[in-house]
Amino acid sequence: MRRKLAAGNWKMNGTAAALDTLDALANTAASAEVLICPPTTLLSRAAERLSTSAIALGGQDCHAAASGAHTGDISAEMLRDAGATAVILGHSERRADHGETDAQVRAKAEAAMAADLTAIICVGETLQQREAGNTLAVVRDQLTGSLPDNSTGATVVVAYEPVWAIGTGKIPTLAQIAEVHSDLRASLSARFGAETAAAIRLLYGGSVKASNAAEIFAVADVDGALVGGASLKAADFAPIIEALDAS
Ligand code: 13P
Repeated sequence: MRRKLAAGNWKMNGTAAALDTLDALANTAASAEVLICPPTTLLSRAAERLSTSAIALGGQDCHAAASGAHTGDISAEMLRDAGATAVILGHSERRADHGETDAQVRAKAEAAMAADLTAIICVGETLQQREAGNTLAVVRDQLTGSLPDNSTGATVVVAYEPVWAIGTGKIPTLAQIAEVHSDLRASLSARFGAETAAAIRLLYGGSVKASNAAEIFAVADVDGALVGGASLKAADFAPIIEALDAS
């Protein structure tokens, strides 16, 4: 019942030349949903390039307010207007670089929902938190604090991204991924009920690449991936989409 999702987060990478990656992916025939989140400056041009493709586009952050005096910020409605149908929120890089709190992430998620964008809400522990045995407590707290009360499978996706696995080439053991994803599902069930929890997609993110994608996608309660570096080139991302389709 949960449609698999391969999401690419380009982070602060890419100028116009990067749109060629989209051309190369545009005709990828996948049963999974494929989403690319380019820098905001590329969104509307990306939407033009993908006008006949099933690939969807997303933003990487939005402001909690609909409009106003917030120099440099982008509203959810602006992302929607530029061609996005989703937005990544609470990525660990934003939590670290911009001090974003769970409450702020939740407010942004509410803004995203109001603009009809799917909120891809990120949670994940640091290495220090994992080594202290606090992984589940940290991730549960982030989940509780960051998800709006009216979250559903249609409006929210949760991405588990261990901070220490991002861009490092290290991934947790499959048992560790399974443990967190199963705990996330249980937490969602306790708060939103089993039916809603069963509809919310859980992505794994952190050093996903073609060589480890299949084993990660075979883990229970992993409904897809949020991919950074390996989403920048079609030759790297296409095999990940294929592995998800085959899982
Ligand atoms: P990498 O795939 O580059 O490790 O990045 C993961 C990530 O942060 C996606 O949001």
